[in-house]
Amino acid sequence: MFARLVLAASAIGFTIASPVVVERAAAAPSSPPSSWQPAQYSPDQARQLMQQKLSCCSGLSFVFGNKISYPNSTVYDTSVASYWSLQEAQVEPNCVFKPTTTTDVQLAVFLLHIGGKLFPGQCEFAVRSGGHTPFSGAANIENGVTIDLQSFKQLIVAADRQTVQIGTGNRWADVYSSLDAQQLATSGGRVGIVGVGGLTTGGGISFFSPRYGFVCDNVVNFQVILASGLIVNANATSYPDLWRALRGGSNNFGIVTTFTMRTFEQGKFWGGFIGLTIDTIQQQFQAFTDLLSSPQYDPYAALIYSVVYNVTGRNWYVASNFEYTKPQAYPPFFQNFTSLPQTFSTMRISNLTDFTLELAASNPLGFRQLFATGTYGASAQQMAAIYRIANTTVQPINDIAGLKWSISFQPEPTVITSKAAANGGNSLGLSTSDGNIFNVLLTATWDNAADDARVNTQAKSLFAQAQASATTLGKTNPYLYLNYAAPWQDPIAGYGADNVAALQAASKKYDPDSVFQYQVPGGFKLFK
Ligand SMILES: Cc1cc2nc3c(=O)[nH]c(=O)nc-3n(C[C@H](O)[C@H](O)[C@H](O)COP(=O)(O)OP(=O)(O)OC[C@H]3O[C@@H](n4cnc5c(N)ncnc54)[C@H](O)[C@@H]3O)c2cc1C
Ligand SMILES: *[C@@H]1O[C@H](CO)[C@@H](O)[C@H](O)[C@H]1NC(C)=O
Ligand SMILES: *[C@@H]1O[C@H](CO)[C@@H](O)[C@H](O)[C@H]1NC(C)=O
Ligand SMILES: *[C@@H]1O[C@H](CO)[C@@H](O)[C@H](O)[C@H]1NC(C)=O
Ligand SMILES: *[C@@H]1O[C@H](CO)[C@@H](O)[C@H](O)[C@H]1NC(C)=O
Ligand SMILES: *[C@@H]1O[C@H](CO)[C@@H](O)[C@H](O)[C@H]1NC(C)=O
Ligand SMILES: *[C@@H]1O[C@H](CO)[C@@H](O)[C@H](O)[C@H]1NC(C)=O
Repeated sequence: MFARLVLAASAIGFTIASPVVVERAAAAPSSPPSSWQPAQYSPDQARQLMQQKLSCCSGLSFVFGNKISYPNSTVYDTSVASYWSLQEAQVEPNCVFKPTTTTDVQLAVFLLHIGGKLFPGQCEFAVRSGGHTPFSGAANIENGVTIDLQSFKQLIVAADRQTVQIGTGNRWADVYSSLDAQQLATSGGRVGIVGVGGLTTGGGISFFSPRYGFVCDNVVNFQVILASGLIVNANATSYPDLWRALRGGSNNFGIVTTFTMRTFEQGKFWGGFIGLTIDTIQQQFQAFTDLLSSPQYDPYAALIYSVVYNVTGRNWYVASNFEYTKPQAYPPFFQNFTSLPQTFSTMRISNLTDFTLELAASNPLGFRQLFATGTYGASAQQMAAIYRIANTTVQPINDIAGLKWSISFQPEPTVITSKAAANGGNSLGLSTSDGNIFNVLLTATWDNAADDARVNTQAKSLFAQAQASATTLGKTNPYLYLNYAAPWQDPIAGYGADNVAALQAASKKYDPDSVFQYQVPGGFKLFK
C-alpha cells in the first residue's frame, strides 16, 4: 500500500525539487509515506509545473481513470443532479470522484492531502453520501473535488443476526428492504431516500429512538479513513475517542465507509399519517406536551407532528406522522390525538420499508430548501408561541413563488436521551438532565434563488423570536440538531463546552494537519 501511494504521488507530480516545497511535502501526511522520495525534476520543470497549476482533478484522473468524471459527462451530471436540494445540485465541482473500494478512498485522501499542501486552495474536497443536506457546500464543492460515496452499497447481516454492516452509500430504504425480508430492523432514518452517512454521523432520529436512542448510539463500529489515508476501526475497544467523536461529529474526522449497526427482531407495525382539524390545535399542543412529559413514555411510540402553512388559502393545516413499532392499531398512548376529529388517515399495519417510502413521497428532490431548528423544554405554551411566530414570519413572504413553510415538532423524551450513556456515549451533549425536550424543524421550500435572502431572513427571525419566548417561559435548551441546522446556526457549540473540547482534541490527534477542517470546508466545523 505505502509503495503504491508514494508511486502514485510522484507519478502525478506532487513532489517537485524546490527545497521549500519538498520540505512541506515531507511534513505532509504523517503516516503512510515513511519512505518518501521526492521525484527528480529540474528547477525549470518544477517552475513549469507550478505555472500550470496542475489541477487536482487531472492528477486524480491519472491515478483513478474513469472513476473521475467531468462536467457534461453522464456520471458527473447524474451525481450532481441527485442532491435533494436545488442549492446543492447547482454547485459545480471541478470533478466528481466515485470510489468503489476503500483503497480508492485511502489513496485519494492521501493524494488530496498532499495536493492541498503543495497547491494551497486547489485540492479542496467534499464528502457526499445521500446528499440530503439542504444547504450548498455541505456535501458538494465549487472548484473542488466531490467524493461521491454512493457506490458503497454493501449490506451484510452478521450470522448471529445481532449487527448489520452498512456501506455509507446506501439509502435507508435499501437497508430496510433487506432487513424487513429477514424480520430485522436497525435504528435509522425515517425517510427512505435519505442517506446513511450524513444522518448517522450527525446523530439521527429514528422511529425506534425511544427504544434504542439516537441512530449514532447504535453504531458499534465505524470503518473510517483518516486524513493520512490510514483506515481504522473506531469502536468501543479500538480508537474509542474517535468512536465517540463520530457519534455527532459529522465530517470532521475522516470518511466513514462502513457503519456496523446493532439490529433487533422487528415485524410489521402500525403507522402512517393523520390529518387533524385546525380548530383543535391548542388541544393538540396539550396532547403533544402530555405525551412528551409522560412519566411512562411508551417506547414504541414515535411522532412527527407537523403544522403546515397553506399558501393558497393563507391558512394552516395539520398532518402528523404516527408510528407505533408494534402491530397494534390505535394504542392508548396516542389516544389524546387520535380521538380528535380527523381530515384524513393513512394509518395501517405494514413494514418499515413501506412507511419510509410513504415519507419519501412527501419529500421530493429538486427544489430550493431550507432547514432550521431549535430545541425547547416540554411546553404547550411554547408550541403555541412557535405556531403564532411561524404565522407572523411567513406573512411578509407569502407572495414567494412555490413557497411551502412547515413546522415539525418531535418529542425527545428522557427515554431517548438516556440511551447514550449505556451505549458508550455520544458527542451530542444531551442526557436525562435536559428533561423532556422537543425538536422544532422549520422546512421552507421555494422556487427562485432571488428569494433566498427573504426566506432566510424570516427563518432567522422565527428562531430568534422562539428563543425569546422560550427564555420567558424558562424552556430554553442549547442543543441544535446538526442534521436540521441552517448554515447560520452553530450546532456544534450546542453540544456544550466539554464535548467541543473533546471533539477538538480528537481532531488534533487524528487529523493534525486539519484537512477535515480547512480542506473539507463544507458542513459544520469544529474550530471557528
Ligand atoms: C427528506 C429528508 C428527510 C429526513 N429525515 C430524517 C430523519 O428521519 N431522521 C433524521 O435524523 N434526519 C433526517 N433528515 C436529516 C438528515 O439526517 C440530513 O439531511 C443528513 O445530512 C442526510 O444524510 P446524507 O448522507 O443524505 O447527506 P449528505 O448531504 O451526503 O451528508 C451530510 C453531511 O455529512 C457528511 N458525510 C456524509 N457521509 C459521510 C461519511 N461517510 N463520512 C463522513 N462524513 C460524511 C457530509 O460531508 C455532509 O457534510 C432528513 C432530511 C431530509 C432532506
Ligand atoms: C456543458 O454543456 C453546456 C450545454 O451544452 C455548455 O453550455 C457548457 O459550457 C458545458 N460545460 C462544460 C464545463 O463543458
Ligand atoms: C413491505 O410492504 C410493501 C407494501 O405492502 C410490500 O409491497 C413489500 O413487499 C413488503 N416488503 C417486505 C420485505 O416484506
Ligand atoms: C474493533 O476494532 C478492532 C480493531 O480493528 C477489531 O478487531 C474489532 O473486531 C472491532 N470491534 C467491532 C465490534 O467491530
Ligand atoms: C391524555 O390526556 C389526559 C387528560 O388531559 C392526561 O391526563 C394524560 O396524561 C394524557 N395521556 C398521554 C399519554 O399523554
Ligand atoms: C388550501 O387552501 C385552499 C383555499 O382555501 C383550499 O381549497 C385547500 O383545500 C387548502 N389545502 C389544504 C391542504 O388544506
Ligand atoms: C396569521 O396571521 C394573519 C395575518 O396577521 C392573521 O389574519 C391570522 O389570523 C393568523 N393566523 C393564525 C393561525 O394565527
